[in-house]
Amino acid sequence: MAAPIPFNRPYMAGKELEYIAEAHANGHLSGDGEFTKRCQLWLEQRLHVHKALLTHSCTAALEMAAILADIGPGDEVIMPSYTFVSTANAVVLRSGVPVFVDIRGDTMNIDETLIEPAITSRTRAIAVVHYAGVGCDMDSIMRIADRHGLMVIEDAAQGVMSAYKGRLLGSIGQLAAVSFHETKNVISGEGGALLINDERMVERAEIIREKGTDRNRFFRGAVDKYTWVDVGSSFLPSELIAAFLAAQLEHADAITQARLALWDNYHAALAPLEARGKLRRPVIPADCTHNAHMYYILLESAATRARVIADLKRDGIHAVFHYVPLHSSPQGRRHARAQGSFANTDAAADRLLRLPMWLGLEPDQQRVIDSLVRSV
Ligand SMILES: Cc1ncc(COP(=O)(O)O)c(C=O)c1O
Repeated sequence: MAAPIPFNRPYMAGKELEYIAEAHANGHLSGDGEFTKRCQLWLEQRLHVHKALLTHSCTAALEMAAILADIGPGDEVIMPSYTFVSTANAVVLRSGVPVFVDIRGDTMNIDETLIEPAITSRTRAIAVVHYAGVGCDMDSIMRIADRHGLMVIEDAAQGVMSAYKGRLLGSIGQLAAVSFHETKNVISGEGGALLINDERMVERAEIIREKGTDRNRFFRGAVDKYTWVDVGSSFLPSELIAAFLAAQLEHADAITQARLALWDNYHAALAPLEARGKLRRPVIPADCTHNAHMYYILLESAATRARVIADLKRDGIHAVFHYVPLHSSPQGRRHARAQGSFANTDAAADRLLRLPMWLGLEPDQQRVIDSLVRSV
């Protein structure tokens, strides 16, 4: 039997170990050394954000965002139910209340028309998730936020190098969080960054990231000793992680292009199945360019999906699904409010299937396509 095809395989750009050796030789292993600065500058320049701060993960960046947004007991943050737990956990950790609304049937992104009806006097922010690296309708969302004085936090975990109306994801809301987890396009094992577009929040963000101390002011020579001035935690990664990431960021354009070639291949090959009503392919709105983070299909039903997963598995191919909608999770029921119907969320949770998508898949991609064609 042919070699198994995993769902994901981390891509190595080439210089990761060389840069880690350089960090080792520099003798600076904790955070905020030369490699961290290099990565942050890259993110600021390429994503056009005011300030980027590396974090341990996108989860950590979202937790920082919730502190910066001053989420306190009972404060509400509107978000999709169809997302990873970290979007909501960050709010619950501040004793806030995630308010879940449904997603759109086309992009799986938050349905922007459902945001305004969910706003109450307790609403503080809107947390949008750019699902599969495809941008939400940010013009509508920013208008709603402006009208109601709300902060917008972009969960751009999957969206590095994608754009909405020519603006890079992560550069539109006041705050954004990105992920460099090994399942993402550009990786450092675990890793992330907080992106800050409102310059008034930079100094506080630096303090929160450094355990609530004004250590950065001290290093800049602005104070003669550093001390505890705010809440915070240790959100900064070591230079070893930043060195790995620096090697990846250098290849971000090439990685995106190569992933897009795989994505386009799936998209063309599966068009006839869509035409025959066997599945639905991803929808990319005209306003969006995407980073080919994910190739997913929507099948007819949960039963069909279970059968297709089993058929692919028999052919040695690992395909996966997600998410258990947060509004129906035990923790979601305890701590969140669910607003309205979740028809699209529930449909995606039952019917969405993610196909293998990683650099190096090229010679075997046709096997995935053939297996899928046989199965559906
Ligand atoms: C939408 C979304 N938000 C947050 C995260 C958390 O990212 P990390 O693993 O870097 O904490 C993920 C991870 O897959 C995600 O998909």
